[in-house]
Amino acid sequence: MSDSLEKLYKYVEDNKQYMIDQLREVVAIPSVSAESGKRSEVIRMGHWLRDRLEKLGAKTKLAELGNQEVDGKTIPLPPVVLGQYGSDPNKKTITIYGHYDVQPAYKSDGWDTEPFTLVQAEDGRLIGRGATDDKGPVLGWLLCLEAHQKLGLDVPVNLKFCFEGMEESGSDGLDDLIVREADGWLKGTDFTCISDDNWLGTERPCLTYGLRGNNYYHIEVSGPSADLHSGVFGGVVHEPMTALISVMSKLVDTNGKILIPGVYDQVEALTPEEDSLYNAIAFKNSDMTKDLQFDGLIHDSEADVLKSRMRYPSLSLHGIEGAFYSPGCKTVIPSKVIGKFSIRTVPDMDIDTLNKLVIDYVEDEFKKVGSKCSVTVSCIHSGRWWYSSPNNPNFVAGANAIKRIFNIQPDFTREGGSIPITLTFEEALKANVLLLPMGASNDGAHSTNEKLDQFNFLNGIKLFGAYWDEISKL
Ligand code: BES
Ligand code: ZN
Repeated sequence: MSDSLEKLYKYVEDNKQYMIDQLREVVAIPSVSAESGKRSEVIRMGHWLRDRLEKLGAKTKLAELGNQEVDGKTIPLPPVVLGQYGSDPNKKTITIYGHYDVQPAYKSDGWDTEPFTLVQAEDGRLIGRGATDDKGPVLGWLLCLEAHQKLGLDVPVNLKFCFEGMEESGSDGLDDLIVREADGWLKGTDFTCISDDNWLGTERPCLTYGLRGNNYYHIEVSGPSADLHSGVFGGVVHEPMTALISVMSKLVDTNGKILIPGVYDQVEALTPEEDSLYNAIAFKNSDMTKDLQFDGLIHDSEADVLKSRMRYPSLSLHGIEGAFYSPGCKTVIPSKVIGKFSIRTVPDMDIDTLNKLVIDYVEDEFKKVGSKCSVTVSCIHSGRWWYSSPNNPNFVAGANAIKRIFNIQPDFTREGGSIPITLTFEEALKANVLLLPMGASNDGAHSTNEKLDQFNFLNGIKLFGAYWDEISKL
């Protein structure tokens, strides 16, 4: 089958080592937004992208978002990198969003190799923190633009770029910026595209039309002014961790059921029509357990696994700050501990209603424990869920592009993860958002040995070009 973009496809294959080396360069910048000590690296990554866009002839701006308070320190928020390439009134305009921050990573977490040194494995894996989430896709857009220029191909759409450096930490300040720039840098957007999730499996590409939201909570329990010797004070004082664990154990049961009354009342009812969609999705529990190397699914049927991930809320316990967690034994009583958990939200859950349910419940349960320690419950950040129509022309263009590159019909999926800004884009720019993932289900985003397969990286770059072309034909 002949394809007008054949030159682009060939260019990507001919220049694959250059493209992988570019990924190596961005992975080497440890732009971890969650660690205040690495904030300068996040900012360096933002500048790298701005410089790169400038070299490609885009107009750019670093939008500053002010400061953030972390552990009593004030540190700058990383800038949002805005870019604009082309302003032809006869072309459609696409806004592309991605994030240049990554999750924390240490070799001691269990990585086989240094997380910020890209490793090109023989089986095609490109291993490194951020390879799939989200540096590979962000770089992919730029490489696609560069390829057009090197080949002298017309870029068939106008492009706007919006790359943020705080996505992994709740997208502080971004909502207001998007609303402000809707009539500024982002004006005239016809469609938005985000490549920041993954295929449902490893073989079939997908288009995503829904994401869960995320409300993140801290339960801070304080007792004595300093840590205590448990030999001297054990059985003598009320211990913060005892109270905290008691309360945390009442949030969710072993089968994932959220125990906070009222949470499920807000969940949109499942219609028979929606129910039938899950059976049609090509997905196997056995593939998932194989990737996880863990036969530990809560649900037996494929449809129930998909529903739990795509359309029901979940509550996960993430950690306890202040708790002793190093190897060996230490007989301390921590004086203050902070329990951390988050709730993935779905249509039609409302953030403020949920916060009230959670905070009231935790405070009540704490009272029931009868501890003389004090408790403070707070919502640290909240990102809204997003749910869109897969029938929009943006999705038609995405599906056609997938057919051109992979010769296959995409899956249409909703995802369990969150990209807090998605709904704001849709509302503020009044334009449809398409999620067009590059990576596969087993990439291990946020985990040890995160990777992006070379196949997905290179074909993803081609896919972006095919998508621009399909949008230009609408
Ligand atoms: N790329 C993910 C979002 C994602 C993951 C979408 C899996 C679909 C499936 C993103 O970088 C991410 O991890 N976001 C955070 C946001 C949170 C801090 C509000 C998440 O989902 O935990
Ligand atoms: Zn991401």
